[in-house]
Amino acid sequence: MCGIVGYIGKQKASPILINGLMRLEYRGYDSAGISTIEPEGLVVMKDKGRVKNLYDLDGINDLKGTIGIAHTRWATHGKPSKENAHPHQDNSKLFSVVHNGIIENYNELRKFLTDKGYKFYSDTDTEVVPNLIHYYFSKDDEKDIKMRLLKAIKATCADLKGSFALEIICKDLPDNMIVVRKDSPLVIGKGDGENYISSDIPAILSFTRNFYLLNDLEYVFLSRDSAEFYDKDLNKIDKQIQSIEWDASSSEKNGYEDFMLKEIYEQPTAIRETIGAKFNENSKCEFDELNFSKEYLSSVNKIYIVACGTAMHAGLAGKNVFEKLCRIPTEVDVASEFRYRDPLIDDKTLCIFVSQSGETADTIAALKLSKERGAKTISISNVIGSSITREADYSMYTHAGPEIAVASTKAHTSQIVLLIMIAIYFAEVLGKDSKELLELKKELLELPKQIEQCLTLADTVKEFAHKIYQEKDVFFIGRGVDEVVAKEASLKLKEISYIHSESYPAGELKHGAIALIEKGITVVGIMTDPTLVEKTVSNLQEVITRGAKTLIVTNQKIDKSMFDVVVEVPETNPFLSPVLSVIPLQLLAYYISKEKGLDVDKPRNLAKSVTVE
Ligand code: AGP
Ligand code: GLU
Repeated sequence: MCGIVGYIGKQKASPILINGLMRLEYRGYDSAGISTIEPEGLVVMKDKGRVKNLYDLDGINDLKGTIGIAHTRWATHGKPSKENAHPHQDNSKLFSVVHNGIIENYNELRKFLTDKGYKFYSDTDTEVVPNLIHYYFSKDDEKDIKMRLLKAIKATCADLKGSFALEIICKDLPDNMIVVRKDSPLVIGKGDGENYISSDIPAILSFTRNFYLLNDLEYVFLSRDSAEFYDKDLNKIDKQIQSIEWDASSSEKNGYEDFMLKEIYEQPTAIRETIGAKFNENSKCEFDELNFSKEYLSSVNKIYIVACGTAMHAGLAGKNVFEKLCRIPTEVDVASEFRYRDPLIDDKTLCIFVSQSGETADTIAALKLSKERGAKTISISNVIGSSITREADYSMYTHAGPEIAVASTKAHTSQIVLLIMIAIYFAEVLGKDSKELLELKKELLELPKQIEQCLTLADTVKEFAHKIYQEKDVFFIGRGVDEVVAKEASLKLKEISYIHSESYPAGELKHGAIALIEKGITVVGIMTDPTLVEKTVSNLQEVITRGAKTLIVTNQKIDKSMFDVVVEVPETNPFLSPVLSVIPLQLLAYYISKEKGLDVDKPRNLAKSVTVE
């Protein structure tokens, strides 16, 4: 779930490992640890809490090994504690292992090993892994120790149910490391006479831009200057190296106080890059990645957009566009629900999966299910080569650059834009009204500039944040697409300020939740749809009468006198307005979190990439 780093080369491993862990901190974790190969054998150092605690441990600077593995843990089995922190070892301390993911059948495996005399010292699911490796390794009489270890790891993986990214070092193979993954991310960065391993690319981007991307159950046998790849049956395979365009500075703060603020301000660029050269106002929208025919698109009777959290909210903003432009019924589903609700899918269904990281376990599982049932699948991800992109029939990318803050901002607006572009492409292939599409394309191209205008609202929003940061409850209301923005703004506020907030369709408030409105409560109203503005104003009137403070985000001419603060965003096509009206509300969440002195980039209990169910 959280982070894995590894190093095998000529330099002292521990500083590189700790630096890498620090770069993965944004993913959220509760403990950290490393293991290196020292002349006296494998050394493990770990602790509960921040990577800083690990860095401060006595003796960590004395580690001289040039090969090591490291981990930040987000506990799934067993409380956060030193004992449960990774790396874990087998009973004879021959192997050190770090693991991201969940071993679902660990109870059964633990019983099997206990019956064979193995002892357990932690409450984790992970501890079965080094002991199983030991079990298979010690009962094999294979002479070639490298093959013996590969076979033992393969046998172990065959026993594991669940998800795992594993790094393994062995005292008897002091110049090597083995890694493998299944449904949990892991990449290998190639340096000069050295290899880096990490859960994601940004953590090791300052060392290399050349990466090997792994498929499920591919085993990698690493030496300082080579990486050998084996398939699931241990046949040797070739793997192409991939160069990544992101430069190291894109994963630094570049003078911003926090990654989240930097990422909010990067939205004009993220949108510009995502639109790229896909179209200009006079030509049709074209994607190298998609080549759908009119016959095929005419046969599609349903689109599902499936995602989690903020990515799902981008889907909600896109739904409207597919239905109105393409006239194809479109449903948006939360991936964790979709996968278990026996969805109606057949070969006339088109499923779009949206995920910034491309590693969200529920979204990947939903994608696999849709494929099994015959749907065509498209992935939208921000990370080249991420798992979701390798599963989908068609992979599309947002070009937002690395998103480090746990709270997603620039990926979200880029996802909305890409979904709308896909809808435009579909509509053009289907031969829909070209005048409407032309107008929409023109307005889409204006978005980066208009986002810049939205960012100038920061001071007004900051002032409002100062007024309300001590509150316990905030409501967000809107109608139509504005309700989608209300949902996203409410999630953003919860995530990083820990203030309880709710989002409601404005007209629904009086069917229950209005009972909670009392003097001083803050209600944020979003009003950009000209056809619905008056209705929402009436609903706001109802909460003002009951004593609510109001912040309004609008692009319409309204009577401002009844509201406490009104921020005006540029006018645009209603399909596009969620990209603009969310910006001041991202800033609101940000400034409230800052006022409260919280860790904006790494909010409590949350992980950037949720690679477990
Ligand atoms: C966003 O602010 C959240 N941290 C979260 O809802 C996130 O969007 C969700 O977990 C999906 O992640 P993904 O886009 O990487 O799949
Ligand atoms: N399931 C393992 C544990 O609880 C690994 C969690 C992780 O991915 O960090 O220790």
